[in-house]
Amino acid sequence: MTHHPTALWGTAVSPRRASLAGVAQDSIAGGAGIPVPVFLPGMGLDRRSWARVLRRAGGTVVPLPGMGRRAAVGGVDALADELLGRLGEEPVVLVGHSQSCQVAVAVGARDPRVVGLLLLGPTTDPRLLRRGRLATRWARTAVHEPWWQVPLLLAQWLTTGPRRMVELWRRTSRDRTDQRLRGVTVPVVVVRGSRDALCPRDWVQQLAQLAPRGRLVELPGAAHMTPQTDPDDVVRLLRELAASAVVHARAVTVRPARPEDAAALHRVSVAAIQESAAGHYDQRQRDAWAGRRTEEGHRLLVERTRTLVAEVDGGVAGFASVALAPVGQLRAGEVDQLFVDPAHGGRGVARTLLAAVDDAARAAGLRRLETHASWRAAPVFERCGWTRGEVETVDVRGVRLTRVAMRRELPGAPG
Ligand SMILES: CC(C)(COP(=O)(O)OP(=O)(O)OC[C@H]1O[C@@H](n2cnc3c(N)ncnc32)[C@H](O)[C@@H]1OP(=O)(O)O)[C@@H](O)C(=O)NCCC(=O)NCCS
Repeated sequence: MTHHPTALWGTAVSPRRASLAGVAQDSIAGGAGIPVPVFLPGMGLDRRSWARVLRRAGGTVVPLPGMGRRAAVGGVDALADELLGRLGEEPVVLVGHSQSCQVAVAVGARDPRVVGLLLLGPTTDPRLLRRGRLATRWARTAVHEPWWQVPLLLAQWLTTGPRRMVELWRRTSRDRTDQRLRGVTVPVVVVRGSRDALCPRDWVQQLAQLAPRGRLVELPGAAHMTPQTDPDDVVRLLRELAASAVVHARAVTVRPARPEDAAALHRVSVAAIQESAAGHYDQRQRDAWAGRRTEEGHRLLVERTRTLVAEVDGGVAGFASVALAPVGQLRAGEVDQLFVDPAHGGRGVARTLLAAVDDAARAAGLRRLETHASWRAAPVFERCGWTRGEVETVDVRGVRLTRVAMRRELPGAPG
């Protein structure tokens, strides 16, 4: 069954219940592969803060301690664990508001079920950790909020209780959402009301830039309570985000390589070198690089490393390999190969492969990855959360080539 992205959560698809363990459900629209929107209330708020959005989009609200639940509050990682325990098997788009964005980001950096993040007024700008400044910013924002919200806000704050709200602030506000965002490789939309002094423009700009696939949207005239005051805009952004996540998630699948893939892997790597890397290496260099590769070499690669194959419409579109333990000259965590068939370039195949490499490495208990990237691949690794190191010069069959050392600390890897 195919779903047109614009039909997401609209009238064209029928409501169903998602398998979110132990969570009271509102209607969820969608079908196989369509991400479920999961809404997280902000500090002191509860499911009522999402009521207007839910009426338009359907979805599920997960109240957490200090954010709709009157329960002891742990740190961001403990809150993330609790949320992870509530997710089912389906892909989800997490929608955070204010303080809950920190939990959404922590989960987005850790779990492949999360295919997109919508962050409304994300906290916590480190400049607001001083109490006086926070109070001033809060007052400057509050005057721009519509007054009809006051009874609604008070009712929610009373449900969560001031004690848990203070606890939440103490436990989470120093956590570095900005740093965690570097490790979120799914699309992230950061949203700010133009009158939100709790969430200054330069702060959200920085967040959108740090997320490898981040983008910033400003809602003119809005302040901090956008789920309550601007539900139409929130739903529009959510639909756009989910549609891109669906297209991305559906087009490419990843499976472990088999020895009989060797011929296809050889073909893809030679084509990628000769065509995709042509802007960065001259013909002599490409001939030397491609000429070193053999079908037998690819068969050994499959046997010795974790090699992952990306498929599009049932055919091999690319592959990556990572050494999960030292083998030959490779160190544990070394990503030795990343090649995408030029016919499938530019549609997220490399990104999907690198996400699968992350998962494999994390499952093997590795904490960091390294590679020696071509000039063609370096910006792609960078977009996927890797950082550049030194430029290296290598001799390949008597021809000099340069490349760049790169590394990645795996977010969410065991301490
Ligand atoms: C490098 C290569 C693997 C990229 O594969 P790809 O499937 O086209 O890459 P993707 O579409 O997954 O791109 C991943 C991200 O990098 C970005 N990106 C791709 N090329 C980029 C470039 N030249 N500059 C900046 N960003 C780039 C994409 O926009 C995408 O980011 P987004 O998802 O946020 O939009 C492929 O071109 C290739 O095989 N090249 C030749 C061989 C090679 O150099 N291999 C590496 C050996 S180390």
